[in-house]
Amino acid sequence: MKKWYAVLGDPVAQSMSPAMHDQWFKENGLNASYIPIHASDLKAAVDSLRVLGCSGFNVTVPHKQAVIPLLDGIDEAAERMNAVNTVYYDEENRLIGTNTDGFGFVRSLPETAAGKALIIGAGGAARGIAFALKDAGWQICITNRTEQKAQQLAEELAADSCTLAAAEARLAEFPLIVQTTTVGMNFASGGMPVNPANIQAGTIVADIIYNPLETEFLRAAKAKGAVTVNGVGMFVHQGALAFEKWTGINPDTETMNEMITMKVGG
Ligand code: ATR
Repeated sequence: MKKWYAVLGDPVAQSMSPAMHDQWFKENGLNASYIPIHASDLKAAVDSLRVLGCSGFNVTVPHKQAVIPLLDGIDEAAERMNAVNTVYYDEENRLIGTNTDGFGFVRSLPETAAGKALIIGAGGAARGIAFALKDAGWQICITNRTEQKAQQLAEELAADSCTLAAAEARLAEFPLIVQTTTVGMNFASGGMPVNPANIQAGTIVADIIYNPLETEFLRAAKAKGAVTVNGVGMFVHQGALAFEKWTGINPDTETMNEMITMKVGG
């Protein structure tokens, strides 16, 4: 029988996950499809997916935390990140939430030895990335407009935090800088979360935003000689990890990266 998967979000129409997973199903000869579901009533939506025989689903904004009590359980990653982006059935047919966002981000980085990483932002995206980077051996410092949120996340991670002004002065210390705030997104007002003046050539500067493909911050970092990484890779790799969870197949991420880049850029 044909299997089907879904993404629950509100809004969800803009999601590129259906195009991505459908392409991977096709490439791998799987009889399956993936649909976007506009879920304003999350409980009703999750219960419906159970009844209708959905094989697994993604959860996106604003439901990544709210979905947790509606599932049969969450794994360690989702527990530490306090958010779920992927739901699958385990061997006992229980609906389990996991989180592939942070690990997807780590996989999207160029090969490099772990060292000191500065994370700008302390929201949900920063949390997932911070835990995954820490697992990969990075020494984390968190900076955020609201300092208290940076301190709180740093405490949970047993990491450091600093003010935006201190981070700006110390940018040269970090071989990896990760921009996780909404500053620079298409619908936001543009601008940069920190002054990039002290970024050094060769630093890896990642921005998890993928629309636009190059934020003002990335453009400034590139002008300083940084190796820049936009959010397309994170999006593709979080999806690939979900796909693997559902199907056991590790899909082609390189071609997908090009496809998504063209869709966003076009
Ligand atoms: P997400 O789950 O995508 O991380 P979020 O939890 O709403 O979204 O977090 C948004 C992040 O962007 C926060 O770090 C937020 O800073 P505050 O904690 O101070 O709100 C940051 N952010 C949003 N708008 C910003 C702005 N104009 N300048 C600086 N930081 C901003």
